[in-house]
Order: sequence, then C-alpha cells, then structure tokens
Amino acid sequence: MTFVRACDLGDLEEDTPKRVELDGTPVSVVRTEGEVFAINDICSHANVSLSEGEVEDCQIECWLHGSAFDLRTGKPSGLPATRPVPVYPVKIEGDSVLVDATAPLFQES
Ligand code: FES
Repeated sequence: MTFVRACDLGDLEEDTPKRVELDGTPVSVVRTEGEVFAINDICSHANVSLSEGEVEDCQIECWLHGSAFDLRTGKPSGLPATRPVPVYPVKIEGDSVLVDATAPLFQES
C-alpha cells in the first residue's frame, strides 16, 4: 500500500468535495457523516469531474446526468452510469488525510 498525503483534514468542509491529484490520479476527497472518503474524480459514464457535484446520503452525484455514486463502494445508484467508480482507502494521521490511490477497495467484476 502506498498512502500519500492528499490534504489537511482542516481543508475539508463537510459535504464539499475536494479534488486532488495523487501521482496522476484525480481523486475527490469527501468529508461526510463523520468520515472521510476518497473516490476517483472521473464519472464512469463520461469524462466529468465528480468533485463538482453534490454530496448527500454518503453519495456523490454527477452533475451532468445525475447518477450518484456510493462513497463507500463506488457503485452507482441509478442510470445512466452502470459501472462503479474506484474508491480508495483513507487514513487520518494527525491533521493529514492520506489516500492510497494505487489500491482500489473494490475491483470491478
Ligand atoms: S457523465 Fe456522469 S452520469 Fe453522465
């Protein structure tokens, strides 16, 4: 596992995604419901940045066509997206948010 620093915990506003690049991988870091999640920032339906969407009920919504992805599993809750978006392990160390963007938690089957 290769955890790298994504941002400070204090940089994250509740339910406001923050886009970061981790070794070339665009990642959206989200603080919601008392936890911090990391999800690939690109929608699985088209090349749209998920961090520009809204967060609700532990899901991030793609602003273009409205598919919402579960921040815990990356799975879409509805069409038009049918494929999950990779989600990554997160560690909090002090005030640092660490993400391993090389090791998605769930592999697409
Ligand atoms: S581009 Fe995200 S749902 Fe279509």
